[in-house]
Amino acid sequence: MDTKVGIDKLSVYLPHFYLEMDELAKARGAEVEKYTIGIGQNKMAVPTIQEDIIALGANAASLILDDEDKTTIDQVIFATESSFDFSKAASTYIHELLEIQPFAKSFEVKEACYAATAALQMACDYVRLRPDRKVLVISADESRYGLGTAGEPTQGAGAIAMLISANPQIFAIDMDSISITDNQFDFWRPSYSEFAMVEGSFSTELYQDIFKRVMSQLEETDPEKLSQIKAMTFHLPFTKMGRKALSSYESQEKSVFTKEDKTELLKQWNGHFENSARLNREVGNIYTGSLFLSFLSLLLFSEDIQSGDKVGLFSYGSGAVAELLTGTIQEHYLTALKKESVIQQFNQREAITIDQYEQFYNELLPADDKKHIIADSTKEEGFYLSEVDAHRRYYKYRN
Ligand code: COA
Repeated sequence: MDTKVGIDKLSVYLPHFYLEMDELAKARGAEVEKYTIGIGQNKMAVPTIQEDIIALGANAASLILDDEDKTTIDQVIFATESSFDFSKAASTYIHELLEIQPFAKSFEVKEACYAATAALQMACDYVRLRPDRKVLVISADESRYGLGTAGEPTQGAGAIAMLISANPQIFAIDMDSISITDNQFDFWRPSYSEFAMVEGSFSTELYQDIFKRVMSQLEETDPEKLSQIKAMTFHLPFTKMGRKALSSYESQEKSVFTKEDKTELLKQWNGHFENSARLNREVGNIYTGSLFLSFLSLLLFSEDIQSGDKVGLFSYGSGAVAELLTGTIQEHYLTALKKESVIQQFNQREAITIDQYEQFYNELLPADDKKHIIADSTKEEGFYLSEVDAHRRYYKYRN
């Protein structure tokens, strides 16, 4: 029998501050229900200048790595669309901060919100050939659409870290998956622009269209596997997106299944959906980590999920690339996920006012070659950006 390979450890790390959606709605003259029901978000994570993608990613990884992991990791792959450097990979900083063994490779991957899935699949392929080695996958992003824009209520920030190994504790990933590429302009960010360009409603339509095309392909190639998927998780730029995807597939008439069988399958998936979106509702869009935040949410909160169950993960990156991967939940998933500490981290965050949010939002790092000490914005334990000197970023650990 082939060795199982997949997610051995998984963690999330969030900025310390968040903005309540009713605070944002008041300031923007919108009805709060548009954000909480229409878009499906309650809170939005707000990063400070000290909580950049390196600090978020390093803090996520430090929650899961032990000394043995650090000596067996061969690759550090960083998935992001919030990179601040066109050449140097974010994972080179993580490699040093986390004290990973020196003979590892570190690099960054990009394809909008799909990137972490590409990294995960690369990592699994590497470990399938070398089952005694491990790969660290980190996704960290800060989504910025601009103050007062339509995309603003779907902002967020955070990092996910995943340790990929043989005989994983959490999730064994199937080798077969369905991928698709369709060159489109639904969301993109030219190198000269601080903000992403987004065709919001087109993106929402394209996402649903691509989901349906992927599902049709799976119906054609492996209907048996499709019928075994107990819960389907989604990339959630905002939580309503998952509901839209589910109902678009539901209303797709052409199917290899009977109407009754498809209705039964979707009933199960719809039943799991709210639990799989619980954490995302409290954070907003963390771009490439959003799918894995939703997957974590499903595993932590769905009481009707257990080891041995097959779960689908639909990854979507604007531009557009998508992939549906599947896998099986492993026996020790709940112990490995440390539910209480995840909940504690969410509860320890602090709410801020709209003025504080706008102040954090507008604060940019100096772009000159001088030395700048970055003032403390939180007292939280963990890695933070402490200094920029001659265009170089430096980090410290606060106890
Ligand atoms: N109560 C309940 N629902 C309400 C409401 C109210 N008072 N007011 C509006 N709504 C609903 C609308 O009916 C709509 O629901 P629907 O989509 O099911 O029809 C929803 O709220 C959003 O309203 P809409 O007018 O479409 O919002 P918008 O033009 O401000 O844009 C997004 C919403 C999501 C398109 C926008 O925030 C966006 O572009 N976000 C970025 C998306 C993204 O990240 N895409 C790329 C990655 S996949």
